[in-house]
Amino acid sequence: MDAFIAGMPKCELHVHLEGTLEPELKFALAARNGIALPFATAGELRATYDFHDLPSFLAIYYDGMRVLRKEPDFYDLTWAYLAKAHSQNVRYSEMFFDPQAHTARGVSFDTVIRGIRRAQMDAENRLGIRSQLIMCFLRDWSAEFAMATLLESLPYKEWIIGVGLDSDEKNNPPLKFREVFQRAREEGYLLTMHCDVDQDDTTAHIRQCIEDIGVSRLDHGVNTLDDPTLIAMVAERKLGLTICPVSNAYVTGDSKARQIKRFLDLGIRATVNSDDPAYFGGYMTENLLCTQREADLTRDEVTQLMRNAFESTWLPRAAKDRFL
Ligand code: ADE
Ligand code: ZN
Repeated sequence: MDAFIAGMPKCELHVHLEGTLEPELKFALAARNGIALPFATAGELRATYDFHDLPSFLAIYYDGMRVLRKEPDFYDLTWAYLAKAHSQNVRYSEMFFDPQAHTARGVSFDTVIRGIRRAQMDAENRLGIRSQLIMCFLRDWSAEFAMATLLESLPYKEWIIGVGLDSDEKNNPPLKFREVFQRAREEGYLLTMHCDVDQDDTTAHIRQCIEDIGVSRLDHGVNTLDDPTLIAMVAERKLGLTICPVSNAYVTGDSKARQIKRFLDLGIRATVNSDDPAYFGGYMTENLLCTQREADLTRDEVTQLMRNAFESTWLPRAAKDRFL
């Protein structure tokens, strides 16, 4: 089974590029940019990765981004992730980035996206791994800042397939961003949002995502299972759920592998993804292994997870079919 999972062609739909910043690269970028880190080694830094919930993770995640300053930094970050994904036979990835976490520090949108884009093109040409970019708004900042970021992204529209919503969910419901997502839709972006696992009001947020925002995917969304009417809506609309078991284990103490199996039994498009692999310590293969072991999945069920992922991509039908 382990060899089967390691070798299977994979698709990833929920990974934050900034969450792929490994301690070793963090050190290299800090040195290149003349930034002092309060740790002597990458191992020492890694030892501080001690999270128990979403806010304690996010504090470390945002602090880590300080080393990302120039276009080549964003290139190196993206290249490192895509090369690692390629080594695990990931054929296609839709990757989040958090522009506001950079523009708020004085790094331009142009710098961020040009570095990412150049690495995407190189990875496609040299490694054969395809990818697309999803721009996330930070939900603990204002809707006005999100709207300004949306407008700033428009000259780069061809490089961005859709928009998402991440960061701290507490008291930051989907409806706070209704106008931003409405405008994003009018501009041609596809829509998704995080509904993190076991947060306050998660089921209300899932309902808003579906009924008010009109997302075509849900990031996490595990708490759909808490409400039969949500199960029916997710099933009927064939929404893909981008679930991240190793991340869940950190943030909630439970990978939710059994819930993933339940979604499969219900015929719902559950997928398995890595979220922030440099922080949680698991890329695609490790996330699939964790799910398979904890829920005792068969080969057919593991294959179904990957079929669900390719089916839930934001690729044209013909491109999906070439993967399936
Ligand atoms: N940003 C990066 N990772 C995240 C996560 N797991 N949840 C919410 N926002 C995030
Ligand atoms: Zn996420």
